[in-house]
Amino acid sequence: MGNSKNALKSPEKISRPALATVPRHVGIIMDGNGRWAKAKKLPRTMGHRQGAENLRHILEAAVDFGIEILTIYAFSTENWNRPKSEVKGLMNLFHYYFDRELDELAKNGVQLRHVGHMAGMSLSLQKKIRKAVEQTKNNNRLILNVAFNYGGRSEIVHAVQAIIKAGIPPEQVTESLFSRYLYTGGQPDPDLIIRTSGELRTSNFLPWQAAYAEYYITPVYWPDFNEAELYKALLEFNRRKRRFGGLNSDE
Ligand code: IPE
Ligand code: IPE
Ligand code: MG
Repeated sequence: MGNSKNALKSPEKISRPALATVPRHVGIIMDGNGRWAKAKKLPRTMGHRQGAENLRHILEAAVDFGIEILTIYAFSTENWNRPKSEVKGLMNLFHYYFDRELDELAKNGVQLRHVGHMAGMSLSLQKKIRKAVEQTKNNNRLILNVAFNYGGRSEIVHAVQAIIKAGIPPEQVTESLFSRYLYTGGQPDPDLIIRTSGELRTSNFLPWQAAYAEYYITPVYWPDFNEAELYKALLEFNRRKRRFGGLNSDE
């Protein structure tokens, strides 16, 4: 992150008009690594590697734009269904990424949080995630929720189980109480969800939290989704009229 900072201060960026509104919480479905690689006649793993590289730049850009919380979809509970070799490659990449980036992220004020189930991951990865969360817990420049081994429906089922286990009487189960039992408990809902590579579906990403999020879908593959593309998404967000079921004062 640190070294890439200067590269991001391009004249193009400086001349960009300021945004009237910056979403507090942005979710990204980082999709299209495989197709990016295929288009270049490279193995899919290369796409994942390039996708991880890209994340450093987007994190820096998110901080610069003033986004407070970024939730990235890195590995879904359904992604275990991929060929063993791809899953193994992805797990190795996460290990490598943590080892290489953690100190830099911590230094840059990023607070890491895990959004997803620990069970099912290797013990060494669980340990790394716990350490990263602990090491960065007092940072406040950007909250980075890493949705890893995450599935929205299963998150809801876990929340229901936890509420029952806690012996909470049914009449006390409200929307706000329920939200607190999700992995994002205590955080504001996402305002904007970006999906790269063109698929028009949520793939089980934050079904509860994104009930009123604005969606932005771009055909650009994740490894090519750069700061200028993020700016485009934020501009489009500024054009949206959010109503939350009501009416705005000018309508
Ligand atoms: C997203 O890219 C990364 C993960 C799901 C881990 P994909 O691997 O889904 O890339 P496509 O969709 O096959 O192009
Ligand atoms: C969603 O992408 C999951 C992540 C980006 C981690 P997928 O590539 O797994 O989604 P589907 O299978 O096309 O719906
Ligand atoms: Mg995909």
